[in-house]
Amino acid sequence: MAGADFWDERYEGAAFAYGEAPNAFLASLADRFTAGGRALVPGDGEGRNGVFLAQCGLRVETLDLSAQGVAKARRLAAARGVTLQALQADVLALDWPVATYDVIALLYLHLPVDGRHALHARALAALKVGGLIVLEAFTPRQIDRQRQGVRGGPRDAALLYEPRDLRADFGEAEIELCEEVETDLREGTLHVGESAVVRLIARRE
Ligand SMILES: C[S@@+](CC[C@H](N)C(=O)[O-])C[C@H]1O[C@@H](n2cnc3c(N)ncnc32)[C@H](O)[C@@H]1O
Repeated sequence: MAGADFWDERYEGAAFAYGEAPNAFLASLADRFTAGGRALVPGDGEGRNGVFLAQCGLRVETLDLSAQGVAKARRLAAARGVTLQALQADVLALDWPVATYDVIALLYLHLPVDGRHALHARALAALKVGGLIVLEAFTPRQIDRQRQGVRGGPRDAALLYEPRDLRADFGEAEIELCEEVETDLREGTLHVGESAVVRLIARRE
């Protein structure tokens, strides 16, 4: 699995690898986010999704392995005039709070299976009752897409997410949506083309 050095190298230029605009699925849920609520964005990279949630009026914390990513997230927040608490951290090494957040957004955070299950359990516990997990990730069908020239996602199938595994991970929550979709990604230069992704909305009961 890629470490901090890999991500630092990816983010060292001025351009935003996945663009400055938020993920379209996350943005489509804007009316579900209540101003003043608390949000956490683990693996927020260069900050596009954390900044979007802050623009929705949420109090946002973001985490990422990459110091370069965190620095760019802070600059993006400053440029947009919003407050973002962006920290460099390994989400698997973190002491997670419980019953704290209204929204936890997991966008393209492709972890190996053990870490993924642990992260999902901690994320669910970190939600307040009624809080939402919003997740989008590539499925194993993306490997064929990559062969056809689509850009995006790990090339290791073990890092790709099956909808049925997400249903199991978030089984204690109310799953409002968990479906695989084809979507034409236009996110910076590294998520481009007709892609196979899973989208999940899970609500803590
Ligand atoms: C494909 S990028 C997606 C970035 C961002 N979520 C977005 O959609 O623009 C994956 C991000 O996850 C971060 N990441 C991977 N493993 C992590 C970990 N264990 N702890 C914190 N961040 C991690 C990487 O540093 C990278 O920024």
